[in-house]
Amino acid sequence: MREIVVLSGSPSEFSRSEKVLKYLGSLLEQEHFSVTHISVKDVPYEDLFLGKYDSPAINEIASSIQNAQGVVVGSPVYKGAYSGVLKALLDVLPQDILQHTPVLPLMTGGSMSHLLAIEYTLKPVLATLKGYNLKGLYLLDSQIDKHKENPIVDVGILGRTKKQLYYFIELVNNQDAIVLPSY
Ligand SMILES: Cc1cc2nc3c(=O)[nH]c(=O)nc-3n(C[C@H](O)[C@H](O)[C@H](O)COP(=O)(O)O)c2cc1C
Repeated sequence: MREIVVLSGSPSEFSRSEKVLKYLGSLLEQEHFSVTHISVKDVPYEDLFLGKYDSPAINEIASSIQNAQGVVVGSPVYKGAYSGVLKALLDVLPQDILQHTPVLPLMTGGSMSHLLAIEYTLKPVLATLKGYNLKGLYLLDSQIDKHKENPIVDVGILGRTKKQLYYFIELVNNQDAIVLPSY
């Protein structure tokens, strides 16, 4: 069974982006993937704050990601970028950890004015880790109801989400046949 890691970068207790990520995880499980959810909230504070790249928790996260055939990374927009705590986690992971790995980036934000945060902040850092980025998804808070099992209440963005997930699945399933760029 192919392994997918879903990584949540929200520090929020009742997180919209995490709820969307959980929903994507459930769709992937329906497609017979084995899904591991990881949240920045699961990582001991001192590992992140003191940059303990060799701590047991960080090693465990690193090996889950290294063993995955695909990774979904989500974050809220904070001050026009992805969350600082997600960066703290990415900073202590091994260099090139996403090499040859299809990555589906996702951000949620309160306003359309930071739509490009995914292009200018999240995708570049994932590319630095050598992930193979898909186009990605940006969802507005108004398109999400975190109390619903399927939290994506806007039909248009739900359609785009499923389309992106389908491309992601296709890439994960066919990655042995594809030569992914390594740069
Ligand atoms: C500290 C903070 C900063 C934020 N900055 C922005 C921002 O710059 N642009 C924006 O569109 N939304 C901003 N928001 C709104 C969040 O991105 C939005 O509510 C998001 O869906 C929250 O996701 P979460 O519930 O997973 O944490 C901010 C929210 C917080 C708490």
